[in-house]
Amino acid sequence: MEYLKFCFVFSCWMKFAYSVFSTDTPQAPPPIPKEKLLVLTVATEETDGFHRFIRSANYFNYTVKVLGMEETWKGGDVGRSIGGGQKVRLLKEAMEALADQEDLIILTVDSYDLIFAGGPEEILRKFQQANHKVLFAAEALIWPDKRLADKYPLVRSGKRYLNSGGIIGYAPYINRIVSQWNLHDNDDDQLFYTKIYVDPLQRQTLNMTLDHKCQIFQNLNGAVDEVLLKFGTDRVRVRNTVYDSLPVVIHGNGNTKMYLNYLGNYVPNAWNYEHGCRDCDDDVVDLSQLKEYPNVLVGVFIEQPTPFLPEFFQRLLTMDYPKDKLKLFVHNNEVYHEKHIQKFWEENRNAFNSFKVVGPEENLSQGEARNMGMDLCRKDATCNYYFSMDSDVMLTNRQTLKLLIEQNRKIIGPLVTRHGKLWSNFWGALSLDGYYARSEDYVDIVQRKRVGVWNIPYMAHVYLVKGSVLRNEMKERNYFVLEKLDPDMALCRNARELTSHREKDSPSPESFHMLRPPKGIFMYITNRHDFGRLISTANYNISHYNNDLWQIFENPADWREKYIHQNYTRIFTENYLEEPCPDVYWFPVFTEKACDELVEEMEHYGSWSGGKHEDKRIAGGYETVPTDDIHMKQIGFDKEWLHFIREFISPVTLKVFSGYYTKGYAIMNFVVKYTPERQAYLRPHHDSSTFTINIALNNKDRDFQGGGCRFHRYNCSIESPRKGWSFMHPGRLTHLHEGLPTTNGTRYIAVSFIDP
Ligand SMILES: *[C@@H]1O[C@H](CO)[C@@H](O)[C@H](O)[C@H]1NC(C)=O
Ligand SMILES: *[C@@H]1O[C@H](CO)[C@@H](O)[C@H](O)[C@H]1NC(C)=O
Ligand SMILES: *[C@@H]1O[C@H](CO)[C@@H](O)[C@H](O)[C@H]1NC(C)=O
Ligand SMILES: *[C@@H]1O[C@H](CO)[C@@H](O)[C@H](O)[C@H]1NC(C)=O
Ligand SMILES: *[C@@H]1O[C@H](CO)[C@@H](O)[C@H](O)[C@H]1NC(C)=O
Ligand SMILES: *[C@@H]1O[C@H](CO)[C@@H](O)[C@H](O)[C@H]1NC(C)=O
Ligand SMILES: *[C@@H]1O[C@H](CO)[C@@H](O)[C@H](O)[C@H]1NC(C)=O
Repeated sequence: MEYLKFCFVFSCWMKFAYSVFSTDTPQAPPPIPKEKLLVLTVATEETDGFHRFIRSANYFNYTVKVLGMEETWKGGDVGRSIGGGQKVRLLKEAMEALADQEDLIILTVDSYDLIFAGGPEEILRKFQQANHKVLFAAEALIWPDKRLADKYPLVRSGKRYLNSGGIIGYAPYINRIVSQWNLHDNDDDQLFYTKIYVDPLQRQTLNMTLDHKCQIFQNLNGAVDEVLLKFGTDRVRVRNTVYDSLPVVIHGNGNTKMYLNYLGNYVPNAWNYEHGCRDCDDDVVDLSQLKEYPNVLVGVFIEQPTPFLPEFFQRLLTMDYPKDKLKLFVHNNEVYHEKHIQKFWEENRNAFNSFKVVGPEENLSQGEARNMGMDLCRKDATCNYYFSMDSDVMLTNRQTLKLLIEQNRKIIGPLVTRHGKLWSNFWGALSLDGYYARSEDYVDIVQRKRVGVWNIPYMAHVYLVKGSVLRNEMKERNYFVLEKLDPDMALCRNARELTSHREKDSPSPESFHMLRPPKGIFMYITNRHDFGRLISTANYNISHYNNDLWQIFENPADWREKYIHQNYTRIFTENYLEEPCPDVYWFPVFTEKACDELVEEMEHYGSWSGGKHEDKRIAGGYETVPTDDIHMKQIGFDKEWLHFIREFISPVTLKVFSGYYTKGYAIMNFVVKYTPERQAYLRPHHDSSTFTINIALNNKDRDFQGGGCRFHRYNCSIESPRKGWSFMHPGRLTHLHEGLPTTNGTRYIAVSFIDP
């Protein structure tokens, strides 16, 4: 691992202390060589924040010594309450050995919530300019003892109060400060430093000041509005717009951790406009190098009626991943979907390593169901990953699971968005009450103008969690039920605010009650690839038989994929259509599914007209050439059908009858049924339309014999209609035609008289 190259041992950093320093020049003092800077930080656990800190320190070649690693944290909860004394105690111990190195500069900083934005040379230059022996970070808020405010020296401009998250100074002076520590580990470090600083005598003799104008230290607490990202060609910095400074140490103190996470997506070199993502390929896993693919438990959650569920399952089945490495856990909360799951289960239960379904009869809440799924992976030591997917996620990218595993993060989701909308499965920022807020980069990420792997505060619908994380950091069971939050909001808040539970095992009952340091797990969303989309479950009316047919407005992309013929677009790109009789065009438009579902829908409705002349459904009540049919309007499908005509038929009209712009309007839209038993044929007639479409809904020779259409003027018959293909021909005058007899079975066609 990268940070191992850092000095955890004494001998390594002693080298720097003994190196030669240059002699004074008369004017400006010579720059302090960067070898003279030693960074000391306290970390008891390698949290995600710690790794980020080390990564930024590595990037600038800081020499870092980590104090307290693997030591139990006893310093209280520095996020919310007083504490942090353990940091001073460890620093005091470390400084004893360094006290006599007069030209050594110590920079002591927090690490879990801190990023370097600049290098050692810059820090040292700014420290020299400050012309003091010790410099503390400053902030506008006083903490933890407001009564000490009056004791602080006044400042004309700049931040007045001390923050102990960053201190830089000469080793002997730092030593003289921390050697005064004689308190407990859970006493407050900031209060300790503050008391020394506000003592005028100590302030003078120890030659201390604060970094009032954020030259070196930027504390974000109370200061988020002061800072902006400044993009350079190579690096990204944080600019303080109030003091016009470029701080070097960026500290997400207080409740600004999420904002720091946002900055950390860029600073110091994670992403910029020139090069895009710089660290996306760091620490990745190469699946092709593994002996075996990891075991994945896929949790599927069907919590509301969801359009295109069979297609969802089909995508799961065709995902590019060995099925014997996949276990499936399905929570279905909808009686309506039981038939879909039953069918998928019967056909594919043996395809997966295991297949467990919990149905609506269990009456589980969403949170309980999600806890159950996650727990199945947690309790199974062979479970390497937990992949949670909601039924409204259409992963069109078959590689998704592999790509996520390869990215090697604790929790990572693929970006999925609502077709053509800015709606997605993540939030870039949170409002103060924990709900959605738009981050500056949200739109660019959703639209993939910025591509990378993004640390974000909230995601939902689809994500991958490492099994090892479930059995360690997230070993507690209940992540999805928290107060009245939605389950996914509960998960994200729990992960963000995760605290260490290690001290729970500690024998001291006192430390059990002690508040614990936040150990938040970073959650990422990747938009490095196009992964798929989120479908809309709103307005899903399940009172029809094949309800997806009605989704043309709500989920147009999925509707098109399911119902429009694979070769439809080739009509326009390759002139993929035929003209079997003069001015009779023939082209593919429907998939087999569209045909089957429409026929099923009509048969389910069942009230065929019987081919009688009297017809109450039409104006005038009399039909001269009646067919045995059902109108689209009768099944409540007329709006959808007309939309289909405008979207998919009008463009073909424009192509074949060039110069004719159809209104795409039709009153007569219906499905006709021909059988020898009822009505087998239709006598020659004209249609009351400018043009007519006639789509074959089933297969000659398989579903029926005979059938077809004959155009008299041209003595031209088409006797082998193709399922899913449509005829388009003029309705009046030239194209007198008849329906040829169906001699066996049942033939169905869908007909529209367009522009009557
Ligand atoms: C850090 O050190 C490496 C190796 O000496 C060097 O290539 C790199 O440029 C240095 N980075 C910075 C930011 O100075
Ligand atoms: C603080 O130290 C600097 C040198 O680091 C010195 O020039 C300055 O006079 C000192 N200030 C006080 C008040 O002692
Ligand atoms: C299902 O659970 C809810 C809430 O827990 C309860 O109100 C309801 O009565 C339960 N229904 C059945 C059928 O058990
Ligand atoms: C669902 O469709 C049925 C049949 O067309 C209709 O009666 C009902 O009003 C629709 N429900 C909603 C909520 O739109
Ligand atoms: C689309 O056209 C290709 C090539 O002509 C053919 O192989 C394929 O079967 C067609 N697709 C369908 C659904 O008919
Ligand atoms: C119509 O075409 C058929 C062959 O396709 C031919 O046998 C018949 O004579 C033609 N009828 C007329 C009136 O041209
Ligand atoms: C009619 O169709 C059925 C099946 O659809 C088939 O079994 C039967 O042989 C067919 N009859 C004739 C006369 O082709």
